[in-house]
Amino acid sequence: MSDQSPFQCSIITLFPDLFAGWLEYGGVARARAKGLVNVDLINPRQFGIGPHLQVDDYPFGGGAGMVMRPEPLFDAVEAIPLEQRGPVVLLTPRGRTFNQASAHELANGGRLTLIAGQYEGVDERVAEHLATDQLSIGDYVLSGGEPAAMVVVDAVVRLLPGAIDTESVREESFADGLLEYPQYTRPAVFRDWAVPDVLISGHHANVAKWRTDQARARTADVRPDLLNRSGRTSD
Ligand code: 6GU
Repeated sequence: MSDQSPFQCSIITLFPDLFAGWLEYGGVARARAKGLVNVDLINPRQFGIGPHLQVDDYPFGGGAGMVMRPEPLFDAVEAIPLEQRGPVVLLTPRGRTFNQASAHELANGGRLTLIAGQYEGVDERVAEHLATDQLSIGDYVLSGGEPAAMVVVDAVVRLLPGAIDTESVREESFADGLLEYPQYTRPAVFRDWAVPDVLISGHHANVAKWRTDQARARTADVRPDLLNRSGRTSD
């Protein structure tokens, strides 16, 4: 299954301890255990400036908050051998929005370096001259890029061959541009709420049609923007 070299993921973060539980439990942990992915955490603090290992400073021109200095971030990225780096992605609410297509692209690359920003921002020279891409995970502001790094790596790693069974990748939300149909398990009746009859009928064609109808109705209701997108089969 995995005679290939693992997907190499380097995360540059001032808070590597935030990742401990995430590395130990769940999908990314299982992929690590299978040897599908290697995750390195690099703290730019070790490249901090002066006796206090400073990593941030006041913004030129004034304004609230602190800005991450460029030197520790350049040093942290440049400490990763070039052949391990892959795309260098700055995680920032100013990036283009991460989606399933971006996850596939990154998964195909085999290597990925993520920079998790902190404070009010990151010196623009990082975006211009160090990062090759900037990604946001949605239209809201986080206090730091660490949750975004976990989101991106989770979405990428579960696409690696062998991470999960291929049927579930193909059938899940966004694979065909629709939201997922409802799922049920036992019991068949719970507090008077019965599972739809068709799912218990054993009639595979009817089950498939019900699921497609449900997926379309759900998508039209809560995410009409996903309908009639290119790349989605329209029949
Ligand atoms: Cl990648 N970073 C931060 N700080 N906030 C965000 C984000 C990233 N994506 C959405 N909001």
